[in-house]
Order: sequence, then C-alpha cells, then structure tokens
Amino acid sequence: MHGRITWESPSNIALVKYWGKYGDQLPQNPSLSMTLRQSLTRTTINYQFNSNLKTTKLRFLFEGIPNPDFEKRLLKYLVRLTGRFPVISSLELEIISANTFPHSSGIASSASAFSALALGLLSVIEELSGEKRTHESFYREASEMARLGSGSASRSIYGGYVVWGKTDHFHQYNNLAAIPVSTAIHPVFQKMNDAILIVNAKTKKTGSSAGHALMETNPYASARYHQAQQHVIELHDVLTRGNMDRFIEIVEQEALTLHALMMASQPGYMLMEGGTLAIINLIRQFRNDTKIPLCFTLDAGPNVHLLYLDAYKTEIVDLINRELLLFCTSNHFLDDGIGPGPAKVTNQE
Ligand code: DP6
Repeated sequence: MHGRITWESPSNIALVKYWGKYGDQLPQNPSLSMTLRQSLTRTTINYQFNSNLKTTKLRFLFEGIPNPDFEKRLLKYLVRLTGRFPVISSLELEIISANTFPHSSGIASSASAFSALALGLLSVIEELSGEKRTHESFYREASEMARLGSGSASRSIYGGYVVWGKTDHFHQYNNLAAIPVSTAIHPVFQKMNDAILIVNAKTKKTGSSAGHALMETNPYASARYHQAQQHVIELHDVLTRGNMDRFIEIVEQEALTLHALMMASQPGYMLMEGGTLAIINLIRQFRNDTKIPLCFTLDAGPNVHLLYLDAYKTEIVDLINRELLLFCTSNHFLDDGIGPGPAKVTNQE
C-alpha cells in the first residue's frame, strides 16, 4: 500500500504568549493566537507500507534539499507518535516540505511545519486503516499530534483566533490540543492585518526550547502564568466585544513581558535589537499623533509584527515605507493577516 498526501498549513502569531512548559509538551499557561494567511508550509508525504520494517524509514527534503538537522528532529517525533500509532514504524516515508515565506525571513516556522506534518501523517494513518474520523475529532487529534512536535503548532491547526491551554474561567479549553475561540468574533477583528517587519533574518542564538526551559528558574514565573490566564480571559471578551483599545494594551504588554522574561532569566538574554526598539517607538508615536489604532507584537526574536485594521491599510503601508523599513533587512515587509487555517491539497502533480 502506498500513496501521497499534501497539506498546507499556516504559521500563527501569539497575542497571549506560550512561554514555559512541563511534562509532555504541556503549557504552563494558556495562549491565544491569530492564524496567518500567507506564511504557509506545504508538506507532501509519499508513503509506502512495509510490514518487514521495525522502525520508520525517512527521507526528508526541505525546499528540495536534504536537511539532516530537521530530519533527526523529525525521526524523534515519529518515534514518539509510534506509541499512539504503531503503524508509523512500518512506513517508508519521503517528506517534502517548503515554505511560502522566504526561509531567510527569520519568522517562526515550527508552527507551520509541525501542523502541516501532523495533518499529513494523520491523513496517511486514516488512509491506511480505512477508518475515517469525524471532522471535529480529526482536527482535535491533529492538534494534539502537532503539539508534540512544537507547542505553538497545536494552534495552527485552526484558522482565526485560537486558544491552547486550560484556563480557570473557560472549561472548554485544555492543555492537550488547541481549539478555536468559542464565541463569535466581533467584525472589527475579523479582518486583522499583520505586517511582518524583518529586523534580522538570522537564526537566534537562544532557541524557543532553551527559552521555555529557563522559565523553570525564572523568579517571575508564577506571576507571569497568572497574568497570562487573566489576559486570555480578558482578550476573549475583547474579541467578542470589539474593543480595539484594550486589545492594543493587552497585546503590547504580552510582547514586552515575553522579552522582559528573557532578560530576567538566569542567564538573562536579549532577542530584541536596536531596530526592534526603534520600530516600537515609531509605532507608538504614530498612534499618539494620528489616533489610528495599530499595535506591535513580537515572537521569540527581533522581528516586529505590526497589527492593524483593514480600514487603515493605506496609512499603515505609507508609515512602513516612509519610516519603518529603514530598520529592516530588506526593503519590503511580509504583508500577512488573519487566515482560514490549513487545507488539504487535492490537485497534486
Ligand atoms: C514566543 O512553540 O516554538 O513564539 O514547544 O519548544 O517548540 P516548542 O516552542 P514554540 O514556542 C513558541 C513561543 C512563542 C510564543 C507562542 O507562540 O505562543
């Protein structure tokens, strides 16, 4: 038995950050993200069932080239999944992956990579077993599988605004898998744009996994986990009511807190750069001067995500071209925004 399956899955930007984990990739606090539209990973899995195999045989190509580092991470991931799906150990897999965003852009790709992979693997498992899950249980299972590869990937399984991690307040959310924000989103937030400004495209020195680990000894950890709980609860309400002013306050506080936690770690480290600070100050200045609602958020890196409403696109693009690109590595930005989530590609060549 053999076949080929392709999925495309997006990256996401956390508005309330996941920072700190325990056990089997479980988050110390709930997070809330927005799934992107343009920054996608496209992953094709060519599979062959071979009952003589004892462990999975894997060949991994990223943008046409073997990538031994990621292949190793992938093999470990497949071994972890074998406990749940023994069939994986009898598979010969060729996994071919590519991003729609420039890989030198420095934007997080583990979320799109592991979500595309989890969806692809689950589709392979369904094809081989002939057992079809309901739509809901397929996505729930895929989110759980994606989480095991990278925590933030659990959220990329769905479009729009997504929550991962249990809260004291809402009982529908849990640590094992993400789910979309369960209440109706106010029209104000249905067309959010994200201009990704690349301050530095190089891979960061302290990766996310090391960063999460440093939270274990961070003196502010418990206050932070409590704050994230409050922020998820409040942002949930803000998204329903359409309160852009409070959205801006929460999102910027989350971004600055994430980086403050890095600086307050032992050893402390900094991922923001001069350009990051310059852009943040210019965004705040512009907001003050024009009263146009826009805000920034940051990932675990120096690049800035500028979030703004569709109605102000002309003014914001003008601001970027006039003042912000000076601090970026290239003379363009990634014009992204809220997206509908992953899709299975049916017309494969
Ligand atoms: C700052 O999901 O990359 O982007 O679970 O170790 O793979 P692992 O970490 P990862 O961490 C993401 C951290 C963040 C915030 C977020 O996306 O919530």
